[in-house]
Amino acid sequence: MGRLFMKLMKTLFASVLVWAFLLSSAQAQEFEPNYDESKVPDYELPDPLTFSDGSKVNTPSEWEKRRKEILRLFENYVYGKMPGKPENLTFEERKNIPDALDGLATLKEIRIHVKQNSQKHHFDLLLFIPNKPKKPVPVFLGLNFDGNQSVHPDKNITITDSWLRNDEDCKIYNHKATKDSRGCSRTRWPVERILDRGYALATIYYGEIDPDFDDGYQNGVHPLFDEQYLDTSRGNNCASIGAWAWGLSRGADYLEQDPAIDNEKMAVLGHSRLGKTALWAGATDQRFDLVISNCSGCGGAALSRRQFGETVGRINSSFPHWFCENFKKYNQNEEELPVDQHMLMALMAPRPVIAASAKQDQWADPKGEFLSVKHAAPVYKLLGKKGLPVEEMPVINRPVYNTTGYVIRNGGHDLNNYNWEVYLDFADHHFDYNRLLNQD
Ligand code: GCU
Repeated sequence: MGRLFMKLMKTLFASVLVWAFLLSSAQAQEFEPNYDESKVPDYELPDPLTFSDGSKVNTPSEWEKRRKEILRLFENYVYGKMPGKPENLTFEERKNIPDALDGLATLKEIRIHVKQNSQKHHFDLLLFIPNKPKKPVPVFLGLNFDGNQSVHPDKNITITDSWLRNDEDCKIYNHKATKDSRGCSRTRWPVERILDRGYALATIYYGEIDPDFDDGYQNGVHPLFDEQYLDTSRGNNCASIGAWAWGLSRGADYLEQDPAIDNEKMAVLGHSRLGKTALWAGATDQRFDLVISNCSGCGGAALSRRQFGETVGRINSSFPHWFCENFKKYNQNEEELPVDQHMLMALMAPRPVIAASAKQDQWADPKGEFLSVKHAAPVYKLLGKKGLPVEEMPVINRPVYNTTGYVIRNGGHDLNNYNWEVYLDFADHHFDYNRLLNQD
């Protein structure tokens, strides 16, 4: 009897495995990204300047109301609702090295402690401040993928002890950073160049805010949030992108009170999933004076309705923890979305925003990224600012901008020196940044 039962159980288990395998490979086969412009479906974008009740936005003060409405739509249907500043937030300066990088910069490490609902958590902000300007400087704040130590090989930088994705190139094994991971993503962070141009650079390892895997929102900062932000049955739960963006705002809380920083010139930037995050942070936190999206693609700068490259259905099945539960209702159903990503761009208005694509990064839909910047223009115009200076996508390596900007460069999905040169120029232009570096 016992043996027969075991046999039965084994057969059952084996067939469950076979079915699971068949199902998952069928699903994997099912998704064929579309890279053919002629197969992009016809679509109609929701109008950022029409309220949900059909009435029109005609004045800047009406836009303020519509802005709130759009923000609610993104909270309820895409990224989820984030809590505000926590009850208890403290900054612990753990390092302050005034002559770092051969005297070029002051290197600081700030541990950001958050306490709420009898839980606590912390994450580290690494900050380089150029020593040359004798006045508060503008800053770029961006999350990094592989730990603060990956940004620059300087041995003063603390190696993260948080969970990381394994990465042979970055020498990350068993989900832990090794000392060989120092500087492994330095091509994405030209620290000396940024400092030379008179800017500070601040970065946080995104996994210290919330580790990037689907754990039912049990780890990272999530346990500090009130139940309403976690309850997936409400549909608008604060998922991982929301938590990372919340972390960026805590970074801004620190930066705005550091006397070395010009807190009216704070730029937020991010690449890829962290570009989606930078956009959401820019939309929800207007202390970010300038917003940069680098190859952010689906759920970032790219229009969802185009279904070109990565789609809503695909991103929600590969990364079920990035967006709120309600976003899943739009899998293979983009035309029903109450928003599209041009409205996210419009939420930055009247602040400068730029999106960058890469020619070989078709997965992120460069044209869709261009179009969302383009279709945010009416909002900028209403607020007395200019959108893009062009109607059609520019050629490779030719940045185009007024208050909103776009650039497509050669190469693949990455953040590189070329991108930084564009962002530094864009920031110089908008911050009217007279670099008195040689005149002090
Ligand atoms: C995947 C994902 C993208 C994301 C990218 C990244 O490619 O499909 O949406 O932008 O990872 O973050 O590196």
